[in-house]
Order: sequence, then structure tokens, then C-alpha cells
Amino acid sequence: MPYDIAVFVGSVRKESLNLKLARSLVALAPASMTLEIESVAALPLYNPDLDSAPLPEWSALRARVKRADAILFVTPEHNRSVPAPMKNAIDIASRPYGDNAWSGKPGAVITASPGAMGGFGSNHHLRQSMVFLDMPAMPQPEAYIGHADKLFDAEGKLANDGTAKFLGSFLQAFEAWISANTKK
Ligand code: FNR
Repeated sequence: MPYDIAVFVGSVRKESLNLKLARSLVALAPASMTLEIESVAALPLYNPDLDSAPLPEWSALRARVKRADAILFVTPEHNRSVPAPMKNAIDIASRPYGDNAWSGKPGAVITASPGAMGGFGSNHHLRQSMVFLDMPAMPQPEAYIGHADKLFDAEGKLANDGTAKFLGSFLQAFEAWISANTKK
């Protein structure tokens, strides 16, 4: 069975560069993994007051995370940090207290930005949460995709061979990381 990878995209924009990148990853994925893109756009804000009667969107998210073999975050940077909708998703699936859906899930992070630094700040803030959430976070390769506005054609397809090659090798490394961090 291929690994079931939930790909969380941290942008809510229709023309999101990160969404285009995530779609490219789906196309580049080896047969050993299935990548499914998850949206964080419609998730109501997490509120612990509702833990005893969770909203259906929260329950669906928690179930999706628990079902996944591994998690891939593909996200922009907002003000040098993780965009609010992505952080909200992380918070929702980390609770209620004692039932952290992310725990033990091997994870990796790709950040993309039109800027030169490729979302470095967002990437590392996200890694900080992953450590706290007990997710084995793939250390290498790091993926800061800068000048991402130059990578796609008019149809939104990846049009840069170097980036395609890099993403392919990233996914291969991720497969090895998942295998090494999955309990048999
Ligand atoms: C941004 N952007 C941005 N870019 C960056 O490299 N570092 C940053 O800190 C920020 N901060 C930031 C804050 C807010 C509120 C917005 C809306 C945008 C620009 C951002 O990288 C750009 O809009 C990307 O295109 C967003 O990614 P998607 O939506 O194209 O995937």
C-alpha cells in the first residue's frame, strides 16, 4: 500500500503559489506515496470551550490527520511566521488536551514565497510547533522555494526543471524519512 500523505496547504487564495506547488508535488509523487491536498480555508477558529461538543469540521480534520501515514506542510509565510489559517488547523488537531492527532506522524515542510528567502521564517516556526507536537520533522533537505511567482506557466503548471528535480528528490527523501519513522 502506498503511504497516505495529507498535504496541508497554508494559503486560502485561489491563485495560491503554494497550492500550485502542492499540485506539482501530487504529479511528481512516486508510486510509493499518495498525496492528497487538504484545505485549511474553511476551518472555524479553534475554541477549547467547544471541546465537549466539537464542530464537525474539527472532527473531520482530526480524523484525517489520524488516518494519514505522514503529513506534508506546503505553506506561505505571513509576517515571518505561519499563516493564521494553517496555525488554526495545527491547533485544532492538537486538541482536546491529551488527544494530539499529530503525535508520531512523520512530517516535512515546504515553504514558498515570491520573495528571495522562500518563507524561511514560516518554515522554522512550523518546525517549532512540530517538535512540540511530537512529529518527527524531516531535517533535510530543507525546502525554501524563493521567487515562486516565476516558477509556473499560465495554466499553473510547474515550468522550472531545476525545481521539479529538487521536489522529486525531496519526495524521495521524505519516503525514506517516513519509512524510518513509522512503527512496524
Ligand atoms: C505576505 N507575504 C510575505 N512574504 C514573505 O516572503 N514573507 C512574509 O513575511 C510575508 N508576509 C505576508 C503577510 C501577509 C498578511 C500576506 C497576505 C502576504 C507575501 C506572500 O509571500 C505572497 O502573498 C504569497 O503569494 C502568498 O502565498 P500564496 O497565497 O501565493 O500561496
